[in-house]
Amino acid sequence: MKYPKEYLDEIKNRLKVSTVVSKTVKLKKRGKEFVGLSPFKTEKTPSFTVNDEKEFYHCFSTSEHGNIFDFVMKTQNLRFGEAVKMLSNLAGMQPYTFSKQDEEREKKWKLYKSICKNFSEFYKNELFKNEKSYQAKNYLKERGLSGIDVKNFNLGFVTEDYDYYENLKKDFDDKIIKDTGLFYFDEKKKKFISRFRNRIIFPINNISGDVIGFGGRILDDNKNLAKYINSPETPFFKKGSNLYNLDKARKLSNKLEDVYLVEGYMDVISLSKNGIENCVANLGTALTSKQIQILNQFYNHIIICFDGDQSGYKAALRAAENIIDELKPDKKISFLLLEDNLDPDNYVNKFGKENFIEITKQKSIQIHKFIFEHYLSQTNENPSSKAIFEKKLREIASNIQDSFVKKYTLEYFLQKVSDLTPNINLKFNKKYKTFPKSLAKTKSYFNETKSLRSFEIKEFSFLYILITKPKLIYENFHLLDNVKLYSDENKQLYNEILNQSENLLNLNVEKLDIDKSLISRVTNYASVKHIISKNLNDNEKILEILMEIIQDLKNYELEQRISELESKFSQDFSEKTFNEIKELKKQQKIN
Ligand code: UTP
Ligand code: MN
Repeated sequence: MKYPKEYLDEIKNRLKVSTVVSKTVKLKKRGKEFVGLSPFKTEKTPSFTVNDEKEFYHCFSTSEHGNIFDFVMKTQNLRFGEAVKMLSNLAGMQPYTFSKQDEEREKKWKLYKSICKNFSEFYKNELFKNEKSYQAKNYLKERGLSGIDVKNFNLGFVTEDYDYYENLKKDFDDKIIKDTGLFYFDEKKKKFISRFRNRIIFPINNISGDVIGFGGRILDDNKNLAKYINSPETPFFKKGSNLYNLDKARKLSNKLEDVYLVEGYMDVISLSKNGIENCVANLGTALTSKQIQILNQFYNHIIICFDGDQSGYKAALRAAENIIDELKPDKKISFLLLEDNLDPDNYVNKFGKENFIEITKQKSIQIHKFIFEHYLSQTNENPSSKAIFEKKLREIASNIQDSFVKKYTLEYFLQKVSDLTPNINLKFNKKYKTFPKSLAKTKSYFNETKSLRSFEIKEFSFLYILITKPKLIYENFHLLDNVKLYSDENKQLYNEILNQSENLLNLNVEKLDIDKSLISRVTNYASVKHIISKNLNDNEKILEILMEIIQDLKNYELEQRISELESKFSQDFSEKTFNEIKELKKQQKIN
């Protein structure tokens, strides 16, 4: 049986090729593309490229070429069906099962889509052509929208009298029309009536660009009528799993790092019109974790910018608490709080794109800080209030799923909380400052283990793996990128091995042009010796051990640089040094 094209397209829309490929191949960004070492061939210079925009990968050395399905089939030896299962799971979708029910659902989905599309087209046309739409046209003009803006977002106007239900009935049954939620049954008139009468409609698309629902705005604000109404939840329109404008915004994620998440349809349209097209809106309900996960598939940084009034602030806070659980080490969520009751729509129309981007840089704050500052502002001098404050922060941090982000968020909160108890800190915080001794002093060749420094022992282990498994190293040479050693003696051996990179396959350590004692130090003191000889044929295990050692060496390097900068900072107190330290500490945390 065949998978429906829509299902496969949705997987492709949700997953960038680079996301899928980078699970197995280390990619580096180069212009619009990514490059890496070919998974189809052992090579030292990268000839494998990934293009997210064109949705394919290409390997110049083997001419392998294809999309995400081809990639997992080829690299993991899967059949098509298995690849679909694996990727749909990665995309956060339900597996496709070929039951009778699914076939039914598929049929309904086609009809549903087609009704929504017809409805949208029909009323778009009405907005432009029907004389009765003049008020709506004026209204949009007054709000600063041009004909082009209206067309870009396919806005329409549902005039009062025309009942499109009758048109639809010619081609579709009552049941499926009812399922779209576009009409409701009027008990008095005994007939189905359009939900959006006298409203400007904003078609809402799914990630693939199919219309699945609508928002509708009245023209004159009127206390008795809701300003906006939206399609109800339907089998194919789930508000918590969709975002307004996501179909367009996701396409920009190859060029841009961040995405704005705003409250309203008009915010999205005004931002876009002003040249900020990387924006989406949630759909008149609270923000969900699912929506964050979807955005994270495309963007590394989500900037939440709700209205600058009290309800916008409350919604932002609620969102922050709901979604902080989703925070991941490589992702960022920030909040941009506007002032003076402005919403992004008013703001960008008033001050323009450059200003909006500038205040984003200056004023947006990261989610943990936003939460901290909110609760701090709610806390007063009384001990119970402070106790509640600390408990609340601990509770929020404890719900974060990623264990590293959890740890450092808690650390951030507690560090700040400890400022509230300066006396207790004074008593318990004895400060020990340790400065690593200068490396240059480690000169003597035949050290006893006890006087070996911790980094040296790591270096021995590192070199030990290099000389016992040269073939494995040859195949995974990229792992050695940016690995630095500190001890002068070990450096000599390492450089000699690197010089041999071409001949690693037949490496003979005995023939290296160096003092043999350097090698015997490695073979004597490498603490991994036993575990490596026990697992000599388990390459995977050895690589795992090697990567761990490399990580430790890199962390050591960071520590060195941090402590150098710290002593510099204690003299110059310069902002620049401070920021460098902060940046390095951040890297240390990520590692
Ligand atoms: P706002 O009231 O902030 O609307 O609601 P807005 O975007 O500023 O609208 P304009 O500029 O007056 O036209 C933000 C979003 O909340 C939902 C809608 O999705 C709206 O876009 N909403 C608002 C409703 O669902 N119902 C309402 O009655 C009001
Ligand atoms: Mn608003």
